[in-house]
Amino acid sequence: MDEKIQVYLNKKIGNINKNIYGHFIEHLGRCIYGGIYEEGSPLSDENGFRKDVLDAIKRIRVPVLRWPGGNFASNYHWEDGIGEKEKRPRRFDTAWSAIETNHFGTHEFIKYCQIAGAEPYICLNLGTGTLDESLAWVEYCNSNRDTHFVNMRKQNGCDEPFRVKYWGIGNEIYGKWQHGYCSAAEYGEKAREFSQFIKKIDPDIKTIAVGANNPDWDLEVLKRCGHIVDYISIHIYLNPDKDNFYDIVAASSYIEERLKLLKSVIDVAGSFLSFDKEIQIAFDEWNIWRKASVETQMEEPYNLADGIFACGVFNSMHRLCNSVTMANLAQLVNVLGAISTSKDDILLTPIYWAFYLYSNYMADTFIESVVDSENFSTDFLNLKNIPYIDASATIDEKNKILCLAVINRHKDNNIQATIDAFGGKISGNARIFELNGKTPFSFNTFEEKQNVRVIEKKPLTVDNRFSYVFPAHSTTVIQVKYE
Ligand code: AHR
Repeated sequence: MDEKIQVYLNKKIGNINKNIYGHFIEHLGRCIYGGIYEEGSPLSDENGFRKDVLDAIKRIRVPVLRWPGGNFASNYHWEDGIGEKEKRPRRFDTAWSAIETNHFGTHEFIKYCQIAGAEPYICLNLGTGTLDESLAWVEYCNSNRDTHFVNMRKQNGCDEPFRVKYWGIGNEIYGKWQHGYCSAAEYGEKAREFSQFIKKIDPDIKTIAVGANNPDWDLEVLKRCGHIVDYISIHIYLNPDKDNFYDIVAASSYIEERLKLLKSVIDVAGSFLSFDKEIQIAFDEWNIWRKASVETQMEEPYNLADGIFACGVFNSMHRLCNSVTMANLAQLVNVLGAISTSKDDILLTPIYWAFYLYSNYMADTFIESVVDSENFSTDFLNLKNIPYIDASATIDEKNKILCLAVINRHKDNNIQATIDAFGGKISGNARIFELNGKTPFSFNTFEEKQNVRVIEKKPLTVDNRFSYVFPAHSTTVIQVKYE
């Protein structure tokens, strides 16, 4: 195979919002307690935050962090989680049948985001909670008026408002597993009401309505609240056979199709409701989910193929950068986790390394590229014409650097490709970063942490046409200057 990648340096398609590399933490299993937060651990700081986890999170520049759930959010009462920790009530969480100590609450979450450098994204309780309770939470967090809840925040040690920009109007309320389960019409009205009054407290807030990955639901909801919300969400978990490499790496193309479908629903809603703004897509839960269950604390081992799947999701989101402007992997630590912890150690999965590669080495401006590659098909989800080579081209306009991500989805073969750049002059030494492991299913363990990771390869001298051999089962980012 000699494949072709054409890159058009002067054809900008849009800006990639950094929030697509976002994450999600839920009060579930060991995500928060024993993951990011572990009181009394020698590995924790004075806040109880695991320092090793925080360091790892900083290395993937988490731009936005969603909390407190997920299903948990729909029976969470925020006032349980403020004030002196010893006095906070222990509650039974009926979403996950677990005891909640409430030691990690709003102040701890905000502090965590501040230290990690992430924008907080809070999901409201539309299940067992009321509008009144949500308004109080928003006021507690974002207002500076002389009111009961603002004074309460000040008494709890924070004079300055937290200025939480993103508020989710509930979670997966279309499903019977969710507290507050209701119809699209009922939810659409509630979302309108919540969004409308939340914005009275702080007009700078952006709200996210619950989408269902179902055009019927999504259209009905948008008809009712599209004028007052900023995003509609979509959640996708996939279960490709862990031993079938092609099923796994092709799965991102299903996600691309569903995101495109949601975009078309937004366009339909917009065309007859004439919103004065473009509603964005928040892909605020996504991952591979195979066997994890409450019994296994929702933990799932991930291998290199899963990491390459995640790279495919990033390339897909780049292609849809004008409509998908936020995404949150479910979840950041232990629960379907990009990071795993033990009492005294930390492990970075191939999905973590996919984030590492893209958040550090890809740029913000998405440009046109055309790939000519052989294809394959899978029975899983009936996916057809999946190219072995999948590329995304971005440029850093300020520093004039082309950052090109190329996935080789072939399980066994290295693939040589000729890269042609048009609309600018490329020259000099290219830096090359590669996500790979010895085998397509390599994974990291506490004993062998480096089986899969990103390494920097030898630089390569290039000009407007060059060839590169992309190793089997890998993702490569090539960075080179242009004029
Ligand atoms: O991420 C785990 C769970 O999956 C979330 O709580 C829920 O929103 C989804 O069903």
